[in-house]
Amino acid sequence: MRILAIETSCDETAIALVRASGGLKSPKFKVLKNVVASQIETHRPWGGVVPNLAKREHLKNLPLIFNQILKTINYKLKPDLLAVTIGPGLKPCLWSGIGFTKEIYRKLKIENPKLKIIGVNHLEGHLYSFLLTNKLTKLKAKNLFPAVALIVSGGHTILLLMESLIKWKKLGETRDDAVGESFDKVARMLNLPFPGGPEIEELAKSGNSGAINFPRPMINRKNYDFSFSGLKTSVLYYLREHSTTKREDVAASFEQAAVETLVTKTMRAAKECKVKSVMLSGGVAANKLLRKELETQSSLLKTNFFAPSMAFNTDNAAMIATAAYISYLRKKNRKISAQSNLNL
Ligand code: KG4
Ligand code: ZN
Repeated sequence: MRILAIETSCDETAIALVRASGGLKSPKFKVLKNVVASQIETHRPWGGVVPNLAKREHLKNLPLIFNQILKTINYKLKPDLLAVTIGPGLKPCLWSGIGFTKEIYRKLKIENPKLKIIGVNHLEGHLYSFLLTNKLTKLKAKNLFPAVALIVSGGHTILLLMESLIKWKKLGETRDDAVGESFDKVARMLNLPFPGGPEIEELAKSGNSGAINFPRPMINRKNYDFSFSGLKTSVLYYLREHSTTKREDVAASFEQAAVETLVTKTMRAAKECKVKSVMLSGGVAANKLLRKELETQSSLLKTNFFAPSMAFNTDNAAMIATAAYISYLRKKNRKISAQSNLNL
């Protein structure tokens, strides 16, 4: 089936057309079109995402991207399923995507009365984004589970134990700031522009990650919860007390502390739960140090490691299509209305 997915939960307006097959036993995806209109430049002067500006940009971008995609698809590529993110996210942004999807659903249904529409959980989109990697085609779904999945974004830090593609248990999550949020906040302290994650990563390249011993919050606690607010505050105090410090050393040492915390807890869970795979997703999964560390540790443990290719870490609609396919197969009929606090 072909799925046209729409994602507007935060500051990226994204539409993708994805071909899905294989069912729940071995789902396969081919991304036919994947367009993301980034609003970074709009929000940069404000140092973060401004919900009403984001909504305005979504309303402007959605018809432009949709028409761009329509022009390139011929009749044979018409979608069988429309998918839209219903949460979690910023309410005005979610509504702009939902309103637009319902509008095109009414129009496309005239030609194709069998067309269906489905609401998607954004976090399931990140979780299933590993299904967009080529590496997976060599492996069968039954050899993947149990698995631990680490979802790290601007709003969430969640560790899951997946028994199967559709059955999971939350092992832990952040008690305060999400890890992406802490990258963004530390970047602001270092006068780096928004979003902070890629900026910190870039600056850290020329710094010494052992220069400052920032705390690794809750690293020795037995549970799988995280806390990143204390780490951010330590950076703030350090900068106040050391005005002549090298910014690149601060960036590298902060990145090291954040990554080490995530990797230690994830790999402890992987060992204790005797998993076959480790999966990483969300915007922070773009971080090369995090990817490299998890990959190395997974190979030492002889477990598979999956992280989406670069285009599918930060918010995109292809990942929404993967979650839509799985929800559709499970006959999940969510109400299509904005749910800003939706969780896994
Ligand atoms: O998944 P995402 O695009 O949006 C949410 O669902 O929140 O994640 C965005 C977050 C931002 O906090 C951004 O700073 C972070 O992902 N991020 C990174 C990197 N690229 C994006 N953090 C660390 N290193 C990166 N390379
Ligand atoms: Zn996201």
